[in-house]
Amino acid sequence: MTRAELRRPHAVGSAYERVEGRDKVVGAARYAAEFVRDEACHGWIVGSTVARGRITEVDTATAAAVPGVIDVLWHGNAHRLTEVDDAELMVLQDDRVQYHGRPVAVVIGRTLEAARAGAAALRIDYDVEPFHVQLSAHDPDLVVPDELNAGFPTDTESGDVEAGLTRADVVVDQEYRTPHLHNVPMEPHATTARWDAADQATVYDSTQNSSEVSRTAAQAFGLGAGAVTVHSEHVGGGFGSKGTTRPNVILALLAARLVDRPVTVTLTREMTFHLVGYRTPTIQRVRLGATAAGRLTAIVHETVEQSSRLLDFAEQTGESTRHMYAAPARRVTHRLSRLDVPTPRWLRAPGEAPGMFAVEAAMDELAEQLGLDPVELRIANEPETDPDSGLRFSSRHYVECLREGARLFGWSRPRPQGTGPWRVGRGVAGSTYPAYQQPSSARATARADGTFDVEIAAADIGTGARTVLRQIAADALQVPIDRVRMHVGSSALPQASGAGGSSGTASWGRAVTRASEQLCDRLTAVGGAVPFDGLSAEADTTDELSAQPALARFAYGAQFVEARVNTITGEVRVPRALGTFAVGRVVNPRLARSQLIGGMTMGLSMALLEEGRWDPAFGDTVNDNFADYHIAANADIGDIDVHWLDEQDDHLNPMGSKGIGEIGIVGTAAAVTAAVHDAVGVRIRDLPVRLDKVL
Ligand code: MOS
Repeated sequence: MTRAELRRPHAVGSAYERVEGRDKVVGAARYAAEFVRDEACHGWIVGSTVARGRITEVDTATAAAVPGVIDVLWHGNAHRLTEVDDAELMVLQDDRVQYHGRPVAVVIGRTLEAARAGAAALRIDYDVEPFHVQLSAHDPDLVVPDELNAGFPTDTESGDVEAGLTRADVVVDQEYRTPHLHNVPMEPHATTARWDAADQATVYDSTQNSSEVSRTAAQAFGLGAGAVTVHSEHVGGGFGSKGTTRPNVILALLAARLVDRPVTVTLTREMTFHLVGYRTPTIQRVRLGATAAGRLTAIVHETVEQSSRLLDFAEQTGESTRHMYAAPARRVTHRLSRLDVPTPRWLRAPGEAPGMFAVEAAMDELAEQLGLDPVELRIANEPETDPDSGLRFSSRHYVECLREGARLFGWSRPRPQGTGPWRVGRGVAGSTYPAYQQPSSARATARADGTFDVEIAAADIGTGARTVLRQIAADALQVPIDRVRMHVGSSALPQASGAGGSSGTASWGRAVTRASEQLCDRLTAVGGAVPFDGLSAEADTTDELSAQPALARFAYGAQFVEARVNTITGEVRVPRALGTFAVGRVVNPRLARSQLIGGMTMGLSMALLEEGRWDPAFGDTVNDNFADYHIAANADIGDIDVHWLDEQDDHLNPMGSKGIGEIGIVGTAAAVTAAVHDAVGVRIRDLPVRLDKVL
């Protein structure tokens, strides 16, 4: 190291606390429903009570007669929107109803209570049409989507799959199912909208992507770029459900336009089960062929999943299967069932979480049939290059994760004894998630007092994005971290990608680094001799990202679970889970640990508890609340132990980081079902592991 490098501060790699942590715990942080409180009135969304049909009458008189009700917004008086890609956003435009809970009106009241009372009094009549809400692999009208989300191909095939299965010594051929899963972030979706002029609006929204909401909202109202400014300073979680503009944004803007004053639309917990998307249920057939020595001869992964009548949302459930293990023959397919349900959307590791459950569960069954250790079976099928593209991996330390995880977990030690009716089992599964990056821009500005303002329309959804970007900026500016003020959470800041696909730190960190480096160059050029207050630099990463060499960039992990299963009651407990990950350089160990533990917690919840149910008779969700839709609470979670390798990867971004938001949920459920099988010999292939399935 040179002397200059030794002097240089290194904020990246240190366990800083969240910048806004104190504001949040003392209640000083303001969320989307907490702006313009004095002037804003409240909109209460009225959802359709039928699953499919036509509205024949909206009688607003009874609602309007409720004291405090200002007006009722419905398709008869709503502003006509310009079409946008997401048909879920084309609310209150006509009399059609495509699913139970679809917004059909918004009652606007001076208070939330008045709006709710007005909504209860509103009378709407429907012509009901036959509907269907249950996913079936035997749906005669299954659709082949044009492509999957994010542009992935629907079907891929290479090698001779049938021959691969025929010459295999052992074949696993099983169907795996995952249910509807709901995002349910702690802060329900909320929007406060205000029209500042006929063609200018300000929106406070709980979103993972203020730039996207700004663009889409402007487009929907036929306005130019920048016409809608979106602020989202603090966001109480999203898990994908706030990844794009949601109907609450459009409804708040429509309502504010109708009554010509600011309107806040807050979703109730129940509404979040209908209106913001959910993880599609899946039916997955997985076939694995292998030689007696445990080398895969074929991998076949065929998924049936659902979408709505409004649009084809085609989740990339089998995408990770294309990249995970070596096999001479492979086929991955996706089919969609269009049902009379809300459109699914992203939920933490959309695609990977359910897809890897099926494939990793099948790998465990294969290991059992072959009499091989499941860790060794995975290692035996490690590819040299990406099996799908043939590209080199930028780095791949999956084997190291398996070996190190096994060591830390004590995989080779004898399994603990159970007591009484409790049996103990252990399971392992692999994790992977792509290391995505998206174009973003950032601005860095020098102040006369030696401090810096760094701005980017990033979203901190509770992950600590603001904090890690401040660390990255401090290092790039070569100053102590307390000299940097980080500004995120507004579309008025330099345009940036959303907090999604575990790409935030990588994408925004690159832009922040470049803007900071360029500002340093400028400051060096002026030599500090002239007044430099306000000197700034702005960088956009679009060009450098497209110039990146083609490589397969993925993060990896291995998860080990100990489960206790009660042979009398069927209860399953997970006293211990351990994850070892290879995620590039960790920018902030405190926040990274939190993300990985959070992901694994959600994975345990997916394995043991979560299950959204749709009622075939009424076409409605049955369990749209926290009493009936079970989510893991503290008492459900034992010790979660998270480790990571010291992974160096120079082919990623200036920080050398891979995303960590989603990989923690990938693989957990398969490790749990493997452990349950190890304990009591029961294979559970449809999640969640309910006690009636165990017995
Ligand atoms: Mo995440 S589901 O990509 O917000």
